[in-house]
Amino acid sequence: MVGVYLSGTGNTKHCIEKLTGLLDSTAKTVPLESKNVVEEIEKNIEIILGYSTQFSNAPYMVRDFIKQNKLLWNGKKVFCVATMGAFSGDGAGCTARLLKKYGATILGGLHIKMPDSVCDSKLLKKTVEQNREIVVEADKKIERVAEQIKAGKYPREGITFFAHIAGLFGQRLWFYGKTTGYSDKLKISENCVGCGLCASLCPMENISVKDGKAVSGNRCTMCYRCISSCPQKAITLVGDEVKEQCRFERYSS
Ligand SMILES: Cc1cc2nc3c(=O)[nH]c(=O)nc-3n(C[C@H](O)[C@H](O)[C@H](O)COP(=O)(O)O)c2cc1C
Ligand code: SF4
Ligand code: SF4
Repeated sequence: MVGVYLSGTGNTKHCIEKLTGLLDSTAKTVPLESKNVVEEIEKNIEIILGYSTQFSNAPYMVRDFIKQNKLLWNGKKVFCVATMGAFSGDGAGCTARLLKKYGATILGGLHIKMPDSVCDSKLLKKTVEQNREIVVEADKKIERVAEQIKAGKYPREGITFFAHIAGLFGQRLWFYGKTTGYSDKLKISENCVGCGLCASLCPMENISVKDGKAVSGNRCTMCYRCISSCPQKAITLVGDEVKEQCRFERYSS
């Protein structure tokens, strides 16, 4: 077994590490952007695939990775895990359907509520204490699910027909334009001091520093890693001002 994840602010990383560790203490977990991710998937039959929900869809980088590596999935058994701030419709189903098309067997799906990572929008904002509570509940859910899986029963959250309809009509159709490709909408303000942290963190290598300022390309997968880490709060995407940077470490005690 191997756990593979894309995580912007650390939520999904935590969930996949915890779940994978509970199921198989010897299993590795690998970030999607790591150089050896294909090799690790090749070596294993059972894959736990995790990512954040974005507008009831999977981040484009995850879908792109699945499509770019079509031949990787035949014969694999995949458990799809989507973390979310509130509602993910068929967040897990969005990759499950693709993977199935490329020959994978879908073991099940799981949605885990975590702190919201969109730190440049007021919507869904919670206090640190509330976010800590959310993480406590998420951990309990992961523990319950690990026990169920060990007993041979995989949850089917987000992969049913009803979840598909909920995701499609509840959100995906309305935000269609936001999820059809990589984004070129990242904004970097005057406050940037050219420290390069954002460039070093970006899983898409979408940022470079030129003449002492960060410059964004057009391959942003909207993970919010740079936005929630910039010491100058100089980066925004959905909104125009960083309210409070969200990172998993702030909410884990
Ligand atoms: C661009 C974007 C869109 C999002 N859309 C949704 C959504 O539709 N529903 C939801 O519940 N959470 C949504 N979220 C919140 C994240 O799914 C959630 O905070 C997730 O746990 C972040 O995980 P990460 O830290 O591993 O990236 C969105 C986050 C981003 C950055
Ligand atoms: S992390 Fe912030 S300050 Fe540093 S280079 Fe990136 S945008 Fe500029
Ligand atoms: S530019 Fe920022 S938000 Fe976009 S993919 Fe890179 S780290 Fe994530």
